[in-house]
Amino acid sequence: MQKSFGKKVLKWIGISLLTIVILVVILYAVVYLSTQNRIDKIYNVMVQNLTIPSDSLSYEKGRHIAQNRGCMGCHGANLGGFEAFMPPGSPLGTLVAPNITHGKGGIEYTDKDWIRTLRHGVNKEGKSVWFMPSHEVSHLSNQEMAALINFVKHQPPIDNTVPKKEIKPLGRILVFLDKFPLLPAEQIDHNAKYVDEIIPSITPEYGAYLSTTCQGCHSKNYKGGPPLGPGGPAIPNISHTGDVGRWKEQEFITVMRTGKRPDGKQLSDAMPYKYFTFKDDELKAIYAFLHQVK
Ligand code: HEC
Ligand code: HEC
Repeated sequence: MQKSFGKKVLKWIGISLLTIVILVVILYAVVYLSTQNRIDKIYNVMVQNLTIPSDSLSYEKGRHIAQNRGCMGCHGANLGGFEAFMPPGSPLGTLVAPNITHGKGGIEYTDKDWIRTLRHGVNKEGKSVWFMPSHEVSHLSNQEMAALINFVKHQPPIDNTVPKKEIKPLGRILVFLDKFPLLPAEQIDHNAKYVDEIIPSITPEYGAYLSTTCQGCHSKNYKGGPPLGPGGPAIPNISHTGDVGRWKEQEFITVMRTGKRPDGKQLSDAMPYKYFTFKDDELKAIYAFLHQVK
């Protein structure tokens, strides 16, 4: 009696475990296939015809845009590759902002390739780039986009090869749950029309145009959130309802230039203020905009 009861229990435990294992395998298969489908999706985008200038005035304008759109913050001061979002060995996968010069380990890009990557977040293979915030620059005016490309494509070659990108099961699960915005091409309107020129002005509208670059860290609604990675500072709310809402314009400008808050606290380098070279009027526009974000 006893023995066969024990056997029955064991049998049921065995069946339950097997069922759980099968369910986990099925669930992961769904996660894998769904994410792989999105990663492999080919975007047949109509790449805009844009004439890239090569004069020094637009080159300097392009440098200013590159600095304030965060290109150096991720790709390094010489654009030779830098920030490791997922360092090799990370449980999520491997992703390092690559070398975007034409040196060894860098990229061979035509003007069309630059436009496709920056306007659409789509690489030469036609697939979405990973985690590269094209969705924050795809709306640049034609003139700014052209100046930016003039600058980035004329950087001296750097020889540096970053590790090959890879996404591991945990990374896939986060992508599947929409907790990790891996594929910027999914966030872009590929039929958008671009204005030819935007005249800088100290207005919330111009501030909004500049501030898309802050969204990657401070979140889409500028309300901040948890730290970007383990050990990092929490991301502050920079809308009207955060501390920024209580600061005077000049205090905000000081924070953006020096990282020093009105209460004397020094911001860490997790806030890339050292890379930003905004002019006073640009910061005033950003301030005017952030004060409107309720
Ligand atoms: C938040 C960090 C970040 C910022 C800011 C950033 N990039 Fe990237 N970029 C990346 C990552 C990560 C990749 C790797 C994408 C991949 O391999 O799929 C990348 C890839 C690229 C590529 C190569 C795409 C390819 O063909 O594989 C180019 C070109 C590029 N970035 C240009 C720029 C320019 C220009 C700027 C400034 C407007 C910029 N990036 C800003 C992170 C960033
Ligand atoms: C790479 C991520 C990143 C980007 C991009 C970024 N920030 Fe930040 N920012 C941070 C982090 C992290 C902090 C908090 C730093 C700390 O507490 O040491 C911060 C702090 C701030 C603060 C201080 C707020 C407070 O209440 O203390 C302001 C203001 C600010 N950022 C404005 C901006 C603006 C404006 C932009 C866009 C032009 C921007 N940031 C882009 C990461 C970022």
